[in-house]
Amino acid sequence: MRNLVDLSLPVEPIAPHHLIGTLGDIFLQERHERLLSLPIVNEGRPVGVISRHNMQKIFMSRYGREIQGKKPVETIMNPAPLLVSVDQSMEEASHFVTRNIAFPITEDFILIKDGQYHGIGSVIDLLRGMEERMAEQNVSLSNALSLLKASQSQIIQSEKMASLGQMVAGVAHEINTPLGYVKNNLEMASEAFKLLRDIGVAHNALLSALQTGEASDEEVHQRLSELEARNAGFQAVYPEDEMDALFKDTLYGLEQISEIVVNLKNFSRLDQAAVDNVNINQCIDSALLIARNVIKHKAEVERNYGSLPTVRCAPSQINQVILNLLTNAAHAIDRPDGRIVIRTQADERYVHIVLTDNGKGIPPEVIKKIFDPFFTTKPVGQGTGLGLSIAFKIVQDHKGLIRVKSKPGLGSAFCVSLPRST
Ligand SMILES: Nc1ncnc2c1ncn2[C@@H]1O[C@H](COP(=O)(O)OP(=O)(O)OP(=O)(O)O)[C@@H](O)[C@H]1O
Ligand SMILES: [Mg+2]
Repeated sequence: MRNLVDLSLPVEPIAPHHLIGTLGDIFLQERHERLLSLPIVNEGRPVGVISRHNMQKIFMSRYGREIQGKKPVETIMNPAPLLVSVDQSMEEASHFVTRNIAFPITEDFILIKDGQYHGIGSVIDLLRGMEERMAEQNVSLSNALSLLKASQSQIIQSEKMASLGQMVAGVAHEINTPLGYVKNNLEMASEAFKLLRDIGVAHNALLSALQTGEASDEEVHQRLSELEARNAGFQAVYPEDEMDALFKDTLYGLEQISEIVVNLKNFSRLDQAAVDNVNINQCIDSALLIARNVIKHKAEVERNYGSLPTVRCAPSQINQVILNLLTNAAHAIDRPDGRIVIRTQADERYVHIVLTDNGKGIPPEVIKKIFDPFFTTKPVGQGTGLGLSIAFKIVQDHKGLIRVKSKPGLGSAFCVSLPRST
């Protein structure tokens, strides 16, 4: 990277008493061709500058050279040249020069070191230097940007993994209850089956006694009573209506489990970015099922669905948005009559999802920051502060809008608007 000192042109300075008449020859020398001005230096210190432009004015005016030629250059020089220290950065110098240079540009600036003349700097070299520097900065900025993008997608990935972990824990919990009683019922059914098998054995014994005709009446009678006793024993432990209920419960439990599995499949949609024409009400149902575990001890959920046209979106991502909003709402509620209302409706351009909670609300100084990545008011380890920033990004990628309104102490409302399919 070039520095200011590299721009310094080693031009021999002119003394203040140098006569104007001979300056023209100096300007005409080939080595001074690209200079706009010459530095006037007295005992090492720059005291002025004389421009080619001024010289031209004198030389071109009638008798100018004759009248002025015998005078020292200090009588016509600009006594306030632009002085730039070589120790300054290129940016500082460029800032100083662009702010102070006179237009049209007729003079170069003078470079000094410790107050002493060091050389001449041309504006065009300074511009080129700055351009090079900006190009270098652009390269390092775009490198930084790609690094940032990479780490952003890493963060999104790890947030996904974190919420996936939470979700899996919730789902495991949801499945566990029906699984518990399905297992219990099956154990009972297996006990009942053992008794039924015993009845079958007693039944066969009676049947063979009757068929062979060899058994005594007493023996037949004994086998009959045995069968009746087992049958009565079975009926006492497992009355018919209870057995029916047992099987109904078991099937219900299995249906619940398969419903959760279907929703989970819908929710995660292995083909993450798959885009489809989707009914948002179904997305909400899916997300509600997944979030049930987080919500159920916090709030009642009221669904107020409008009839919606489809929305062209990645359903797994929209699920994620709704899940994040639901989780936040549940976290904000700390009262016995917690309530989350989800309303959907459509207008001619958008499908709107409005999620209202009666949680603690968001103070005005906080609301400005809630969509910022990593902003959280939750204790360390409880919130990453990414939920809403991810929701924002997803909604933005869908060309939608996400808005919030809140009254501290009363609750908050988040509105997600997604463009309807065309
Ligand atoms: N419904 C809400 N009611 C009150 N405050 C909310 C609500 N939703 C969000 N907030 C506030 O916005 C902040 C940021 O929310 P965000 O979802 O981005 O992160 P988080 O919930 O803190 O952490 P994470 O979602 O990553 O676990 C929360 O910490 C909370 O202060
Ligand atoms: Mg959150």
